[in-house]
Amino acid sequence: MRIVFIASECVPFSKTGGLADVVGALPEALQALGHKVEVIIPRYRATKPGTILPHASNLTVPLTSGFKSAAIQRGDIIKGVQHYFVDCPELFDRDGLYQTKDGKDYPDNALRFAAFSLAALEALKHVSESPEIIHCHDWQTSLAPVYLKRLYASDPFFRQTSTVLTIHNLGYPGLFPAEVLSQITLDSDLFNIDGLEFFGKVNFLKGGILFSDFITTVSRRYAAEIQTPELGYGLDGVLRSRADRIQGILNGVDYEAWNPATDRLIPARYTPQNLEGKKACKKALLMRMGVTQPALDRPVIGIVSRFAIQKGFDLISEIAEELVKTGVYIVALGAGEPKYEQLFRELAAQYPDRFLVKIAYDNELAHQIEAGSDIFLMPSRYEPCGLNQIYSLKYGTVPVVRATGGLDDTIQEFDGKEGTGFKFSDYSAAALLGAIQKALEFYRRPAAWAQVMQNGMSQDFSWTVSARSYAEIYERLRAAKVRTKMAS
Ligand code: ADP
Ligand code: GLC
Repeated sequence: MRIVFIASECVPFSKTGGLADVVGALPEALQALGHKVEVIIPRYRATKPGTILPHASNLTVPLTSGFKSAAIQRGDIIKGVQHYFVDCPELFDRDGLYQTKDGKDYPDNALRFAAFSLAALEALKHVSESPEIIHCHDWQTSLAPVYLKRLYASDPFFRQTSTVLTIHNLGYPGLFPAEVLSQITLDSDLFNIDGLEFFGKVNFLKGGILFSDFITTVSRRYAAEIQTPELGYGLDGVLRSRADRIQGILNGVDYEAWNPATDRLIPARYTPQNLEGKKACKKALLMRMGVTQPALDRPVIGIVSRFAIQKGFDLISEIAEELVKTGVYIVALGAGEPKYEQLFRELAAQYPDRFLVKIAYDNELAHQIEAGSDIFLMPSRYEPCGLNQIYSLKYGTVPVVRATGGLDDTIQEFDGKEGTGFKFSDYSAAALLGAIQKALEFYRRPAAWAQVMQNGMSQDFSWTVSARSYAEIYERLRAAKVRTKMAS
């Protein structure tokens, strides 16, 4: 089948979080199953394409607020997957993907990603054969299915095209003032409760949920959670109305990038059979973080995260003192909301020998923390899938996670024999501390600890299984299109 991914980020070209890992890896896995997959992403200032081939086409993006000119550039082919860039410097040649350097959303984000979605559809007509599936991701490309049904309904190029929307995070719906609708080439009749209107605003993700042919999200538990008022962000009713078209498919992992046996970003490589390299990684990590004489018998708790309310770090401040008393080092890498950056800076100032903090986005250090830590902490309020806990399993770094969304689906509580990590349910500092203390009790029993590490390292979360689930959905959509065509 011919499948096109339209997304706002993709490894190795642009990344703020797990979305980029997924858009980087899933197309390759689909391609390996025999499909032809192309990916269209914006060309940001930081996007460094390896190749730009000459036959780029110029596009005019027909926004009601004014035409924008953009170019579609044919870029790198990675493992058979053709990547295209929408180049529109006016909209994308900026410091950040979505925000200014000081963390403020760009005021024209609605226009930027409406224009991108529209440009991607226009671009397809210049560079590609007609696709059977257009697969969109999160609010940034949620308007593509809306445009397809509204502006391209009678365009023969898209006659055989079905759309899939993957919700990676319902917490970011793309909410904008009502006036936006008149600027993005959509009629005002869409501004109602059965359309894009959401409590007086325009909600891009709601558009995607209503107009796409199928909706997926990134774990089974999250698929159920988003249909409840607690985690539905006001969209649970809309999601329930489409319940028969929603499926949770767990994210996979690109083990070519995240595998301690081959990882070139860590100081020593290791395998489940020979863990010597992991000890070297622990020592090197502590030294890199400024500990001149590391006490290697102390456990290291690693954190790599976007700093956002979702990730649950409020809980840490309440138990910092108790944590330090247990004797652990905490190595934290993260960037994002100033409130959490400040929190970690303060912890580092208060306990300089124990809270080892780097406020940054640093892929190399992220790999070194995965390899050099004993425990990996993810106390998320909610977590659609979460990738770092899955990477941790492979690196023999035992996850302590809150039992929510994909964290709950991917980690099984260790009982001394079976299981891969430690979980807590209540969103409370006491419950988090309890789970860490439980992990530390096992850490002091080397045979049990070796067991939980081995259990995790032998898990397989590679993309093949999940890619098959996506392919099944695409196939069902294609068959349904053929049936409709035959009936008409
Ligand atoms: P989310 O997408 O919600 O941020 P995930 O766990 O799905 O959470 O994915 C996060 C991805 O981003 C992982 O690949 C992780 O290593 C990476 N990441 C997050 N924060 C940082 C950081 N400060 N530096 C480097 N990589 C980071
Ligand atoms: C989101 C979620 C995360 C998920 C990632 C990739 O950003 O917060 O849980 O793993 O998308 O799907």
